[in-house]
Amino acid sequence: MRMYDLILKKRNGGKLTKEEIDFFVKGVTDKTIELYHISALMMAIYFQGMDEEETLNLTLAMADSGEKMDLSRIDGIKVDKHSTGGVGDKTTLAVIPIVAACGVKVAKMSGRGLGHTGGTIDKLESIKGFQTSVEPEKFFDIVNTHGLCVAGQSMNLAPADKELYALRDVTATVENLSLIASSIMSKKLASGSDCILLDVKVGSGAFMKTYDDAENLAKEMVKIGNGAGRKTVAIITDMDKPLGNAIGNSIEVIEAIETLKGNGPEDFTLLTRTLSAELLKMAGVKNAEEKVLEVISNGKALEKLALMVKAQGGDENYIYDTSLFEKAEFTRQIKAEKDGYISHMNAETVGIACAKLGAGREKKGDSIDFSAGIKLFKKTGDKVAQGEIIAEIYSSSEKKLDDAERTFLSAIEYSRTMPDKIQLILGKVE
Ligand code: URA
Repeated sequence: MRMYDLILKKRNGGKLTKEEIDFFVKGVTDKTIELYHISALMMAIYFQGMDEEETLNLTLAMADSGEKMDLSRIDGIKVDKHSTGGVGDKTTLAVIPIVAACGVKVAKMSGRGLGHTGGTIDKLESIKGFQTSVEPEKFFDIVNTHGLCVAGQSMNLAPADKELYALRDVTATVENLSLIASSIMSKKLASGSDCILLDVKVGSGAFMKTYDDAENLAKEMVKIGNGAGRKTVAIITDMDKPLGNAIGNSIEVIEAIETLKGNGPEDFTLLTRTLSAELLKMAGVKNAEEKVLEVISNGKALEKLALMVKAQGGDENYIYDTSLFEKAEFTRQIKAEKDGYISHMNAETVGIACAKLGAGREKKGDSIDFSAGIKLFKKTGDKVAQGEIIAEIYSSSEKKLDDAERTFLSAIEYSRTMPDKIQLILGKVE
């Protein structure tokens, strides 16, 4: 088989066979295919697309390209959730203790922040001592004992995707539905859970900017998951404005803790409860909504988070006393520039402002300022008076405040009339 022929076939709108896709993915994994051949094929796929069968074959080949988590040593049904990424998205931190407190196990691999979006692993590391690098033996043990564990991706899961993603990132071929869907799902399939819940974000802070694109991506991923024998559901949710009121690392963990105590912001509370109940239903639990409320009000969900933190080497006192989290040395209050309503708060720009404060990385391997972040007092739809405090920004570096403030203010648009309310939960694909 020759890469030239595969590229020519796809360029002319042809369909790649399973053998051709397997040949390609094997060559990507063992690095025997030239980068220019891979890039040319990615561009041909970008323009010509792939059908359902091709997308499933690409996903399965990438999922099989490296190690796979064998979760059979964990008893019962294992569930996993995945968010396509957003700003202020600390949902995993609240959802998995709730689900575990209701008796369903979560063995989760999570990632670090990417661009303007945060990552669960970075957030958890703001708890003193918390270890995200967990050996497989210990990982299984913690899930079997406590029902939940969140680890960084230490295993060599879906290495073909790693290569392809890095190349797509620099050749303007990321934004193709089949390529995104196969990339995400190959990692989820290699992670081994029985049920996969996808939170597909849409809006200014998300990868998918329109509802139709988000729905198409959701459909594609659900088809792949079910086609591979995993129960898969996608919920499409708004990411046009940041989620909750806290954006950063430690302040997001604190907001998740408050939500587990029943004191979270309205939007984040709704999302947490909806996704938790959905995961429980997927695992066959009856009266899921009531069970979610019960483990929040009796403190069992919070206790699960503390148990996980302790099992992973962290100081569980942080969960019960959030004043222990490191505080930023510098704080600045941000004031509304006009009278009226906030008609739009561009979530991506808010995420960039937060990264500029030190909460994100400029390049791979940069260290993170856990105390940096943004606390929102007003969001899209709220009425404000000129000079009123709408947010507070935090950083360990005073010189980062000016640029971050300018960026944050550029995210905000005002109107004289009240804007239409945006729903948080927009759709579901089963
Ligand atoms: N996230 C992924 O893992 N892959 C993509 O292609 C896009 C987002």
